[in-house]
Amino acid sequence: MKTIEKFNEHVMPTYGRFDLVMDSGEHEVATDENGKKYIDFGSGIGCNCLGFCDESWVKAVCSQVQRLQHNSNYYYTKVQADFADRLCTQTGYSKLFFANSGAEANECAIKLARKYSFDKYGKGRHNIITLVNSFHGRTMGTLSATGQDVFHNYFFPFLEGFVNVKANDCDDLTAKLDDTVCAVMIEFVQGEGGVVALEKRFVDKIFEECRKRDILVIADEVQTGVGRTGKFLASENFGVHPNITTLAKGIAGGLPMGACLADESCCDVLNRSTHGSTFGGNPICCAGGNAVLDRLQSEGFMESVCEKAEYIRGKLSEMPEVESVSGIGMMIGIKFKTLNAAEVCKKCFEKGLLVLTAKDKLRFLPPLTISYSEIDDGLNILKDIIG
Ligand SMILES: Cc1ncc(COP(=O)(O)O)c(C=O)c1O
Repeated sequence: MKTIEKFNEHVMPTYGRFDLVMDSGEHEVATDENGKKYIDFGSGIGCNCLGFCDESWVKAVCSQVQRLQHNSNYYYTKVQADFADRLCTQTGYSKLFFANSGAEANECAIKLARKYSFDKYGKGRHNIITLVNSFHGRTMGTLSATGQDVFHNYFFPFLEGFVNVKANDCDDLTAKLDDTVCAVMIEFVQGEGGVVALEKRFVDKIFEECRKRDILVIADEVQTGVGRTGKFLASENFGVHPNITTLAKGIAGGLPMGACLADESCCDVLNRSTHGSTFGGNPICCAGGNAVLDRLQSEGFMESVCEKAEYIRGKLSEMPEVESVSGIGMMIGIKFKTLNAAEVCKKCFEKGLLVLTAKDKLRFLPPLTISYSEIDDGLNILKDIIG
């Protein structure tokens, strides 16, 4: 039986997939089982931040596989300790919890915020403000947190205690910041919501009001983090430091890993037996994470991400069919004047360019290591399609 039929016979049809059986990848080029090549402007939805099978990342991961593949969290490993230390030093956080995905990292943040408030103020201060059009994951908790009605179907009852505020609406925010609220959770650039960056004055207002009321700010940087916006954390673009930041996607270069980072004020809230994960902090993923940090912390790397992002944005804005280019850095949303983004995405795929969509936009999340020649080749494919 052919791969696609076999897969569809046995795997639940939760995704609309392209007819592409991926076989291998090298840097920013993927090869399917028939040998057709694709330039990758999607990096597996932002996960393969160093592209496919980066040599130093492969070496780090393979050497860890041969040494120790899994360790119960009842014991310690050096690779985990090193990764936690480096991640906290890089981001200015005090402690972290290791999860396996973005949704799990956010679950941890939600639990942490509620316990922080319960420990200090008792019951009743459990509400978390999230933004209209946000996306925080697919678990029951993170689906409930997600501020889009389209996700609030079928699975009733959803978790209580999430209140939605309109992004960039300071009046809506202050009206809803009452004494039932323990946290405000934001994406600095709403990714699944259409690559929409928050306004700085709204971000500043959140931090100002939360500081006054001892309400925690949680940044969901699952999509924006790990260099995606040209800074290690998107919060750096706004000059703020949330109490909690969650990371996943690119954090281990394409291996399943998530992290919930907490500052001094709340890093000891989740104590013994209040949270856990069998696989959380898996040594292989941590080894991949250390290799990602090696690269992102290398001289000139982040500057090169910013330069490439500017280059792509400049080229896109010269295309007559492009109405606007949104997002920050290498998180790029493209709105067309007349064309349908999903149809353009499909045509790109047929011509050998892997891209994504987000709402009515075409979305690029290229590997941070992408070369200028692959950028040019990819943009030429797009240009041929959109004119
Ligand atoms: C901002 C944000 N949060 C959370 C998630 C969920 O992450 P995961 O699919 O790893 O659970 C995503 C996934 O797209 C995301 O973009």
